[in-house]
Amino acid sequence: MIENEVTKENINKLVLKFYAKVIKDDLIGPIFIDVLGKDLKSDIWKTHIKLLTDFWASIALGDSTYAGNPFAPHIKLQDSLSIKAFEQWLKLFFQTLNSIYEPQIAQQFLARSKNIAGNFIRNLNLS
Ligand code: HEM
Repeated sequence: MIENEVTKENINKLVLKFYAKVIKDDLIGPIFIDVLGKDLKSDIWKTHIKLLTDFWASIALGDSTYAGNPFAPHIKLQDSLSIKAFEQWLKLFFQTLNSIYEPQIAQQFLARSKNIAGNFIRNLNLS
């Protein structure tokens, strides 16, 4: 079912589906697996998925549960990151968005994620 409204439930679905795709990806999968393992049902992944659900809910719904620092954990990943890795992240995110939301909503999430990815790339000095 294509959603025409954003809810915390469908954000959770988005995040789960996205990471299921991410860990199978040859380019960026290993970066995530190194830190979080490959079992999406493990406690460490459950915590990450809940964190990212809260993160996107804060952006899309103004939900105030997320209180982290989105940029900080990427600093220690700097050596494995590249512009190409971020492009792949965005591609997989957009594919997942389109499988869940109507185009207008998918575009809004994409615009926000492109913006954040651009800031990460700049702040991490990636090439
Ligand atoms: C290739 C690109 C990326 C990789 C490999 C990556 C990898 C990771 C990993 C491994 C963590 C968990 C770190 C830990 O628990 O120690 C993390 C956390 C996180 N990532 Fe990414 N990430 C990428 C891009 C992005 C983008 C584009 C966004 C936002 C649009 C994002 C948002 C977040 C957030 C919100 C967290 C949690 C921060 C917190 O602890 O509060 N990431 N990322």
